[in-house]
Amino acid sequence: MNIIYHPSSQTFHLYNDFFSYIIGVLPDGGLGQYYYGRPIRDRKDQSHFFESSNRGMTVWPLEDRPDYSPETTQLEYPSLGRGDYREPAYEIVSQNGSSISDLKYTSHRIYDGKPPIKGLPHSYTECDDEAKTLEIDLKDKIKGTLLTLIYTIYRDYGVMTRSVKYKNTGQATLYLKRALSMSLDLPDHDYIWMQFSGAWGRERIPHEKRLENGITAIDSLRGHSSHHQNPFVILRRPETTETQGEAMGFSFVYSGNFLALAEVDNYDMTRILMGIHPQNFSWKLEGGDSFETPEVIMSFSSEGLNGLSHTLHVFLRERVARGPWRDRPRPILLNSWEALQMDFTEGSILRMAQKASKLGIELFVLDDGWFGQRTEASGLGDWFVDVSKLPEGLSGLSKKINSLGMDFGVWIEPEMVSPDSELYRSHPDFVLHEPARSMSLGRNQLVLDFSNPHVVDYIFGMLMRVFDGANISYIKWDMNRSISECFSSFWTADRQGEIYHRYILGVYEFYERLIKAYPDVLIESCASGGGRFDAGMLYYAPQAWCSDDTDACERIKIQYGTSYGYPLSSMGAHVSACPNGQVNRFTPLSTRANVAYFGAFGYEMDFNHLGDEELNEIKAQIKFMKENRELIQFGRFYRLISPKDDHLSSWMVVSPDRSRAIVGLYKILNTVNAGFYHIKLLGLDPQKDYLIEGTGEIYGGDELMCRGISSKSDASTNGVAKFLGIGQDLDRDFGSRIYVLREVR
Ligand code: DGJ
Repeated sequence: MNIIYHPSSQTFHLYNDFFSYIIGVLPDGGLGQYYYGRPIRDRKDQSHFFESSNRGMTVWPLEDRPDYSPETTQLEYPSLGRGDYREPAYEIVSQNGSSISDLKYTSHRIYDGKPPIKGLPHSYTECDDEAKTLEIDLKDKIKGTLLTLIYTIYRDYGVMTRSVKYKNTGQATLYLKRALSMSLDLPDHDYIWMQFSGAWGRERIPHEKRLENGITAIDSLRGHSSHHQNPFVILRRPETTETQGEAMGFSFVYSGNFLALAEVDNYDMTRILMGIHPQNFSWKLEGGDSFETPEVIMSFSSEGLNGLSHTLHVFLRERVARGPWRDRPRPILLNSWEALQMDFTEGSILRMAQKASKLGIELFVLDDGWFGQRTEASGLGDWFVDVSKLPEGLSGLSKKINSLGMDFGVWIEPEMVSPDSELYRSHPDFVLHEPARSMSLGRNQLVLDFSNPHVVDYIFGMLMRVFDGANISYIKWDMNRSISECFSSFWTADRQGEIYHRYILGVYEFYERLIKAYPDVLIESCASGGGRFDAGMLYYAPQAWCSDDTDACERIKIQYGTSYGYPLSSMGAHVSACPNGQVNRFTPLSTRANVAYFGAFGYEMDFNHLGDEELNEIKAQIKFMKENRELIQFGRFYRLISPKDDHLSSWMVVSPDRSRAIVGLYKILNTVNAGFYHIKLLGLDPQKDYLIEGTGEIYGGDELMCRGISSKSDASTNGVAKFLGIGQDLDRDFGSRIYVLREVR
């Protein structure tokens, strides 16, 4: 890993074992993008990568260089108004109303380590020698702006992080109208764009399209990263597969409005942009003021989509997530929501908990409904215990749960308020709204103005008081509606464009305080399921509730899609009761667990409603997960068969030393008289032999990867089921099977 500057050619080469990234100063003093791809050797002069040609209808900034036009050049951080007609990376409006900008290289710094981004989530280093940072200063003298492009590369990860700092170096006020975190110009457009889209209950389903001339984009304007589009995209070559070929990922470390865009121009070049959505954004910069963008993680792999996912899994797990839970296998939890919703008493909670503790559950989570006069339409924001339900408060309940041998966790939704609540009656001004205009409801609730620091303080204080004395080990932070009427009376008219971003800064500030107050608590983020499942949230909460859809078949698709960009340890995945509350489907208990194992595992059901057979099965599931969660949550994950055609689907994890592996195989819809299937495994050691536990069958790693596991092995299904105590039933709709492989010597 190194970052080298060659003064003679004014080129920068950033490289590690995974990629090279080359930038150079252009003839007019601007910055050009020369190369991004597989590592190449460093040379003193790589300015020959700069391409120029005199083309019709272009404009040129240098009188004597009609061949050099911004429009046909790969630019590093493109401006507006000087002859580049593609989408710009930023827009700054001066007092005279001009959006024209022109950045010139002035200086740079290269140093070990990585700087933090104040108030925003960001990746970090544990020691300075694992990363190098390049800061390049670019100035627009006429506007009085200094832009610093910040790049960090890591020694051990195929990633580069990028962000931008803006400074108004003049006296006159400027308005930032667009401040994207990164831009990347690529020399061709032979790419497949992959996005992860959906809606509530069906988040992060992969969609692909070939890049064509024009703009391809995804975004969120909802105030959160959203169920609808995830702030993560992949570009892959058409020939790239799971195991071979080039792929690059762009992960936005941010949880609010975003834009991810690819523009293929008329000379077949591709521009990638990612950052805070310019719509509904502006930021006032008075003389001397600065603004820092959130970070984008650019990942690169020449080992296919799996290589890219693996890079991101490890990086997000090890260098974005923080705190004591970062590297710890996650507790197996029981959450009260799907079983009890808001209709419970301490008695019903304890009955659930007593049964759960006997089965081996480690953490009991009390979900929504424990505070205020809570109904679906009231009580949100009233963070004091409803003593008619919990006479001894959270403190009394947590002690009772602890005495059953389990940790205690609790649900909160700090950003919201019900119109029918004491909080709203006493502080109607706490809500985002435009005075005189009616407010739109979402889930019967309104959004608190987290751009206002007093609101953040107030809610934080309330929560600290209600948590006082309770032994809380886990917090589920929920957020159940998108923002509308985004107006804050706390801020002046000229700052209303800042509210969406300030809102998220308020959320991050609240998270930071919570972590400070409860450093050992495991936080799970949630937004009506997976409405804020992004790299930014992982900085505060190492796991996130994947989706409100807990049906096993749906979850295969959701978790499969999520795995492209996020580690298994981050995916909250629970076994719920049947018929499933979202799709009314009956699936075997075994399949529900066989899917949920591949995440941060838990349950959403009242075990008191189950018979002995199911209870024994759950006991065995919990035992299985305890024995294997370290491997599952921290091993190397491989997607094997996509669930997209609703037939077979499969994935697996392999331990770092390749001595153990667990394969999940799912029959979504059964077929009659089908041929044998062969599940070709990945990541095993070809020289090793592996026992499929419970069967006595031993195969070579080479055989398992080249010929695969054959459905012929299902003959021994029953024996395996008994041995493992977990479901192994493939011969039916929604059937599934887990193969546990262990190296034999
Ligand atoms: C939405 C979440 O996704 C659910 O898990 C649950 O916590 C409910 N909110 C509670 O209101």
